[in-house]
Amino acid sequence: MVSESVFDAAKDYIRDLFEGDGSGHDYFHSVRVHDVAVTIQATEGGDLDVIRLVALLHDADDRKLFDSADYDNARRFMGDNGIPDDVQERVVHVISQISFKGKDSVVPDTLEGKIVQDADRLDAIGAIGIGRAFAYGGSRSRPMHVPGQGFLEDMDAETYYSHENTTINHFYEKLLLLKDMMNTPTARDMAEGRHRFMESFLEEFYAEWDGQR
Ligand code: ADP
Ligand code: NI
Repeated sequence: MVSESVFDAAKDYIRDLFEGDGSGHDYFHSVRVHDVAVTIQATEGGDLDVIRLVALLHDADDRKLFDSADYDNARRFMGDNGIPDDVQERVVHVISQISFKGKDSVVPDTLEGKIVQDADRLDAIGAIGIGRAFAYGGSRSRPMHVPGQGFLEDMDAETYYSHENTTINHFYEKLLLLKDMMNTPTARDMAEGRHRFMESFLEEFYAEWDGQR
């Protein structure tokens, strides 16, 4: 049983780590993933301590932000906070499986991984996901939309990480695909409303872009 003070310390740790990041990998993203994962766990089950540690630490070694060799930041936090070695290994294993890498994404082989991956993906869609996508595009100085610029399909991980797209393209390359990639029935239900919200956002966006509304 991990004590509540460790989760508080994990929040402080990631708040310091993500200080000043404008790419959507912020402290509040990790806290939202944590909160949604706890909600999903209430119906789907799974080890709550592992789920909460993974959710809070899942972006602590993100390759786009940090140059860490082997989940160094997550390991350092857990080592400093008395998390037993076997739990640390489980947490690192789960973290390694949850990130989105185009068609190189993996289906986690643990229930805990399935739940946090769902929570991470839910935070990429809906109103929050729209906000994060435009924040990310802005942080990379990308245009939000270029009429006629096609999007890529079936990208492998390297292409997904390296290609320069518009933020609207990102909806077709990732955000609209996520609803059908949820692992758990609970998350699939939660994704429905968020998905519909993105579809109506896009419809409104194009209508306004074309001067129709
Ligand atoms: P994950 O947390 O699964 O690793 P990413 O790191 O790929 O996801 O993305 C973090 C956030 O930035 C997400 O909300 C994602 O949709 C957004 N994002 C990533 N790539 C782009 C892009 N090319 N254009 C707009 N938003 C992006
Ligand atoms: Ni994330």
